[in-house]
Amino acid sequence: MADSYIQSLFAERIGGSQYGKSQAIYKFEKIKRARRAAMALHPAAEIIDLGVGEPDEMAFPEVVEKLCAEARKPENRGYADNGDAALKQAAARYLEKVCGVKDINPETEIIHSIGTKAALSILPATLVNPGDYVLMTVPGYGVFGTHAKYYGGNVHNLPLTEEKSFLPDLGSIPGEVLKKSKVLVLNYPNNPTGASATPEFFARVVEFAKQHQIVVVHDAAYAALVFEGQPLSFLATPGAKDVGVELHSASKTFNMTGWRCGFVAGNELLVKAYGDVKDNSDSGQFLAIQRAVAHGLEHPEITEKIAAKYSRRMDALVQVLSKAEFKAKKPKGSFFLYVKAPKAAAKEGGSRIEFKTAEDVSQWLIAEKLISTVPWDDAGRYLRFSVTFVARNLADECRILDEIAKRLGEVKFEF
Ligand SMILES: Cc1ncc(COP(=O)(O)O)c(C=O)c1O
Repeated sequence: MADSYIQSLFAERIGGSQYGKSQAIYKFEKIKRARRAAMALHPAAEIIDLGVGEPDEMAFPEVVEKLCAEARKPENRGYADNGDAALKQAAARYLEKVCGVKDINPETEIIHSIGTKAALSILPATLVNPGDYVLMTVPGYGVFGTHAKYYGGNVHNLPLTEEKSFLPDLGSIPGEVLKKSKVLVLNYPNNPTGASATPEFFARVVEFAKQHQIVVVHDAAYAALVFEGQPLSFLATPGAKDVGVELHSASKTFNMTGWRCGFVAGNELLVKAYGDVKDNSDSGQFLAIQRAVAHGLEHPEITEKIAAKYSRRMDALVQVLSKAEFKAKKPKGSFFLYVKAPKAAAKEGGSRIEFKTAEDVSQWLIAEKLISTVPWDDAGRYLRFSVTFVARNLADECRILDEIAKRLGEVKFEF
């Protein structure tokens, strides 16, 4: 495509006049390309996709029915703006019933989002001035940081390591950065590590935030997907509402990724500011979708069923990977199993391949074993296996897991 004057007009934040010209291929594109190449080479073979980051099933029929019924109501047809009372009230009741958060005022302390991703892209506008710092965990979901940088902010990365149970070391932040830090973004259960927070950690976060006058944004997109006990909400921590907000999402909680709906809850001032910027960014999610999500929030047993399936698959995948010598440990929630990547793989005939990065391993797994994963090289070398692979039924699920075991068993991994 010939350069037009438009090329010279792009903002520096997306690359300026060089926008779109970089030859760099990013991780997810590399995975896609490797998958396409593997499929072209082995058209009849089955690619096992353990790289997906979203549920493999549809929303439950009753939620779909609710959407249909609400979509037929003329009063739901228009702009929803910052939402109506149904979702807010259902969200407040959900926080109390499911997460033990008692004191959320649905009118002033909750506003819906068109998904957590949208909320993470709106919130930086409320807080970040040029030169401000945002504290983000890596590996992680970087949307807040990307937008913070769009506003001239800086990102300070806090590595999540196995030694620290994949919780950030708040004591490691240099004084100069801390002075300029305005926001700490957390996400538990965590993507990609699958790690969960603890009430003690959240209590420390509240103390840290108060001491350094920092806002906490807790991305709770996977919060409801727990394998035992109650979901842990940051808002259940004493004092949490003084320092931050929590983002909930119907995407993973109710198999509703494409529907785009969630909510922001917590500190009244922050929720109000989010609402003000949101009002200038979107006109609200379709009310019928909001009502369907509200139905889900009134029926947490839906999520319990979804989580039970992931738990069962996780048990089986841990066994399969452990047999192949991976150090796999079942997480307490999410649908991600995060394991150290091998350094090499040896075939029976004697050939051996060494891997420098997790990305090398991931590429090799697709090319050689037709198994797709997501590699992370940000803080150590790890692979993320997701248990949201598509299976027709329970028998098919077992077959796929056996197939993974068979393919991985053809080599000896070295760690
Ligand atoms: C940590 C994390 N936060 C947020 C999202 C996006 O959630 P939503 O579908 O609600 O926008 C994802 C999606 O993968 C995620 O992994």
